[in-house]
Amino acid sequence: MPEMKLGLFFWPAGHHLTAWRHPDATADAGQNMAHMVEMAKLAEEGLFDMFFMADSVSFWRGDLEAMVRDNYGAKIEPFSLMVALSQHTKHLGLVCTATTSFDQPYLLARRFASLDLASGGRAGWNLVTSTHRAEAESFGTQPHMAKSERYRRAREFAHVTRGLWNSFDDDAFPRDKESGVFLDQDKLHILEHEGEHFQVRGPLNVPPSPQGEPVMVQAGSSEDGRELAAETAEVVFGIHQTLEGAQGFYADVKARMAAYGRHPGALKIMPGLMVYVGHDKEAAAEKFEMMQDLIDDRTGIEFLSNRMDFDFSGHDPDGPVPDIEFDNISSSRGQLYLDVARREDLTIRGLWRRVAGARGHMQIVGSPVEVVDFMEEWFTGQACDGFNIMPPLFPHDLRDFNELVVPELQRRGLFRTAYEGTTLRENLGLTRPAWPSGKTGAAKAAE
Ligand SMILES: Cc1cc2nc3c(=O)[nH]c(=O)nc-3n(C[C@H](O)[C@H](O)[C@H](O)COP(=O)(O)O)c2cc1C
Repeated sequence: MPEMKLGLFFWPAGHHLTAWRHPDATADAGQNMAHMVEMAKLAEEGLFDMFFMADSVSFWRGDLEAMVRDNYGAKIEPFSLMVALSQHTKHLGLVCTATTSFDQPYLLARRFASLDLASGGRAGWNLVTSTHRAEAESFGTQPHMAKSERYRRAREFAHVTRGLWNSFDDDAFPRDKESGVFLDQDKLHILEHEGEHFQVRGPLNVPPSPQGEPVMVQAGSSEDGRELAAETAEVVFGIHQTLEGAQGFYADVKARMAAYGRHPGALKIMPGLMVYVGHDKEAAAEKFEMMQDLIDDRTGIEFLSNRMDFDFSGHDPDGPVPDIEFDNISSSRGQLYLDVARREDLTIRGLWRRVAGARGHMQIVGSPVEVVDFMEEWFTGQACDGFNIMPPLFPHDLRDFNELVVPELQRRGLFRTAYEGTTLRENLGLTRPAWPSGKTGAAKAAE
């Protein structure tokens, strides 16, 4: 029987919106190295495939109200954290976000290839196109690119990045002291990319890692996002509220892969799941209620305004959610929240109590058996290939997951009892995707 894959979605103090205000929380978790190293080590003890940290290139929305109350705004830059964690772990995949809208493929390819080397082949890149206006404002005064344009650039960006990662055959560096040949030029491939957004000659100046190249991760869910995932992604982090919704997304993205000559098994779909687990249902419910009580009105209003890109501050929290027209900046997340509000007939307050804690992701509250029943139903029902686990409070809920949920998953044969390999690809069961080799150094020299 195939086994599910598990990512640990890291969020400094915990994934619950107001986790940092919990009496037991590490309030400075986003800059506390001892805390972050401990979480990575715990993830490795739990045999998680990877540790994932999200990112943006601004405070989320950038206005003062959000900055004052949001614990995720100011924190360590994730890439730097991944390099540090690579020296404290041996098997755990290390995945973080980088944007295609405000970066350059050569610089990004070089950084991730370096993380891949530093970690012995455990790096992954979560490709995002950046949805927030404040992010565009970090780079100039022009309005943010339209979504279709962002994705066009992302597609070319991904292509160039992979091309650079394929600059060398695995045995391109003989480093032969006797002959003096460090690099075999016949095993060097020069990209010479000339495209709409980028002109990049190559080769990359970082050698390949034990897994060949970093794993491509993505989290977009719009039409453009799905198409790019089908073409380029090896892991997709989803966001779903219902089994049917997740099954539809799973079938849709996997079906699109054939057009790019890809097998459905070459992509692992892992929706986010916030888990409140206790020894029994009552203990889990108690935890859940305590976390929801931490959400005050201002935080709830601020959360919805930020995520839906709509100013709720003048609206009565106990009134209905207004009709909102989403422009190209607004993402599928805003529409998802609006759908939840309409489906469940929620007030503004009801909506934030419903979605803010888990920030729109699926949540489950229950005993170990109930949690694993849920995960098994989604996994065997072709709604996912695994989960991106979001503990509400660190380290408490990660420890509980390791101690209560992992053994039950293993007992049912749904999850590994030891790591399969040392690289992220080996553990995810992914082979390195093919790349049409470019011109070699020798061919270039002959020109
Ligand atoms: C689990 C998960 C993690 C994400 N991480 C980030 C992130 O780190 N940075 C970011 O800008 N967007 C992140 N996103 C947003 C997506 O990249 C994407 O922009 C969003 O889901 C909207 O999809 P669309 O752009 O295809 O409409 C994440 C989404 C999910 C579901």
